[in-house]
Amino acid sequence: MTKPMLVVAPDPGALARLAADHLVRAARRCGPGFRIAVSGGSTPQPLYRLLASPEYRDGLPWADTHLFFADERAVPPDSPDSNFGLVESLLLSHVPLAPGHVHRMRGEAEDLQAAAKDYEWELAATCEFDRGSREPRLDVVLLGIGDDGHTASLFRGSEALREEDRWVAANYVPGPATPRLTLTYPVLAAAGELVFLVSGAGKAGIVRRVLEGDPDLPATRAACHPRATFLLDAAAAP
Ligand code: 6PG
Repeated sequence: MTKPMLVVAPDPGALARLAADHLVRAARRCGPGFRIAVSGGSTPQPLYRLLASPEYRDGLPWADTHLFFADERAVPPDSPDSNFGLVESLLLSHVPLAPGHVHRMRGEAEDLQAAAKDYEWELAATCEFDRGSREPRLDVVLLGIGDDGHTASLFRGSEALREEDRWVAANYVPGPATPRLTLTYPVLAAAGELVFLVSGAGKAGIVRRVLEGDPDLPATRAACHPRATFLLDAAAAP
């Protein structure tokens, strides 16, 4: 496994700042037409608040940015469980991103397979394809890691882990979690960069296992990306 780059911040506040600066630099490197996919969960919330703050609001080229989602729960956008709802309230409602540049997954769709297919069309219509690649290129995908080693909505034992062709999958997660829509490994592998944001002592063990290459954890395969960066706070660092 290519070793991901590891950067450790002293605390969650500093981690949000580290991540915000990382994204600003990535957007500058990409030049016009920055395409980013973001995740839900609790960890990125301080980052989203910071990016919406007066200090950072002008840091990202919003007018020229397209924002996608790494995953979504099968709920309507106004549900407290919606990743879109979370990102909308903390970030999108505060920055000048054109509504047509926000690409949400239709978690409320009755037919999640159709919603996954629609999202593939949206990726194909908005992203570039690297020479010879069958998958669209997102410049950055911001990911978290769950306590059980999932990333995006790629859960252990779920069908989407075996997906080699589709870019977006409707994933019926074993256990109590709601069904999800998720980017798949092929589209994660085609991304310019994967940024894993992880915080808290409860995650140190799982981060260690992912970095050691534990093949049972879905995050491990994603972390094999040649440009994977782990941004951690000190508590989550192995
Ligand atoms: C989600 C995610 C998921 C998340 C991890 C970590 O919708 O929940 O996108 O993959 O990133 O579960 O979540 P926490 O940041 O809450 O620990």
